[in-house]
Formats: sequence, structure tokens, C-alpha cells
Amino acid sequence: MIAFVMGTTIKLIPNSKEEAFILARLAEEPDFAEFILVEDGLGPGPSLLIRNQGVGTELMKDFEVEVLGLGIGTKRYPGAFTGPVKKVILSLIESPSLNLFSGISTIGDVRIDNNPALEEPTLKMDVFDFISVPAYTPWEWVILDPPYAQSTVGSGRYEKKYPDEIAISHSVPKRRALVAYFQKYARNVLWLDICAPLPKGFKRKKLWLFLPGGFRTTRVLSQLENTLI
Ligand SMILES: C[S@@+](CC[C@H](N)C(=O)[O-])C[C@H]1O[C@@H](n2cnc3c(N)ncnc32)[C@H](O)[C@@H]1O
Repeated sequence: MIAFVMGTTIKLIPNSKEEAFILARLAEEPDFAEFILVEDGLGPGPSLLIRNQGVGTELMKDFEVEVLGLGIGTKRYPGAFTGPVKKVILSLIESPSLNLFSGISTIGDVRIDNNPALEEPTLKMDVFDFISVPAYTPWEWVILDPPYAQSTVGSGRYEKKYPDEIAISHSVPKRRALVAYFQKYARNVLWLDICAPLPKGFKRKKLWLFLPGGFRTTRVLSQLENTLI
């Protein structure tokens, strides 16, 4: 790989097909920078231009950030939306809306969860089966609160483990499937997670950081606007 640094832009030229493949994959998941593939004929595949959007500088803030307390969850369903999260979501969404990994939430016209014990989902099925079928028309809003891996170590009540929890956003095939569906069928996305994804084709409008206090995991709610549909 050859790298050229031009001001705040870096150009990566692949030396092999494998490196070209890696660059193409990187370009699929832009985050802190703008990733652009350019067919400049310098390598066996396109070069990757990485334009720094100003990490750690004022430039990065072309979206709003708000920091709120997470609030207290419900004993009935740990992991359910807390009051402050619900309030933000309800202040934004319009129909038609889709809530993926909806748990006991009643937000959204269509709510998908595979937990058979719940009454609240409108469809009890696997999210990935649901999104494998094209939508008739785009959803105005898609809300998702996918599970993330939780394990705490220590003693007493902190020894709890959640072996069945799979971190959806840490699974490359699963997040790719979600992103591919959103690119086609979601005008706006509200993604609650422990990361702040910015899939290709989306503009980050606002981030809410929900601080739970203590050593518990901060939740990030990302408001993303589709620039493709
Ligand atoms: C973090 S909880 C979401 C809770 C929800 N926001 C609420 O207010 O109740 C994650 C949910 O995803 C569901 N889930 C996990 N994997 C799933 C899958 N592949 N398909 C559908 N639901 C899934 C779980 O049953 C769980 O209810």
C-alpha cells in the first residue's frame, strides 16, 4: 500500500488485489472521515481518498449533540427504552414507522421482535428475515435498538453474564444487511446502540448521549437522514 498525505486528505493506493479489496470494504463504512474510491489507474484497483472531517476539531460538528441522563429502566424488561429515550423518539417520528428489535416498546406502526413471550411486537419474527423482503414503500422512520454484548465480571451481583446476547452492530454481516435495507427503505433512522454508526449514504443529523451513571455503558442515539432516496 502506498500512502500520500495531501493536507487533510490521505490517498491510499493499493499494491495488490487483496489491498484493493480492503480499501473497497473500508469505503463502505465511513465514519470519522469521508471515504471516496477513485479510479485513477495507479494500482490494480481504485485508490481510496480519506478526507479528514476534522476529528477533535470544530469541523466535525456538522451535526447536533445533546447529552442527557439515561433514566431508569423497567424491571419487567431490562434493556427497554427508558423515559428520556422514548421522549426523544416520540418527538421525531412520523408514520409509516418501523421499530426493529422492538421488545416491549409500543412505538412504531410495525414492530419486530423474535421473543415469543411478548405481546407488544406486531410481528414476532427474526429481524433479518423481515428485512430480507423488500418494502413496498420506504419507511419514514426506522427505529432500532439492537442487542449489544453485555458481560460484567467481578463478584456478587456483578457476576451476571449474558451469554446469549449477540452484539448485532459488531457483526459485520448483520450490520451490512441492516444498512443495505436502510439505504433502500429508510428515509430516517434512529439507531440506539453503544456505538455511533454512520452508514454510507446517510447524513448524521444529531447524536444524543444517554449517560447511565456509574460504570454502566453509555447509550448513543444516532439520528441519520438518508441522502439516497
Ligand atoms: C435491547 S432490546 C430492545 C428493547 C426495546 N427497545 C424496548 O423498549 O423494549 C433487544 C431486543 O431484540 C430482540 N432480538 C434480538 N435478536 C433479534 C432478532 N434477530 N430478531 C428479532 N428480535 C431480536 C430481543 O428479543 C430484545 O427484545
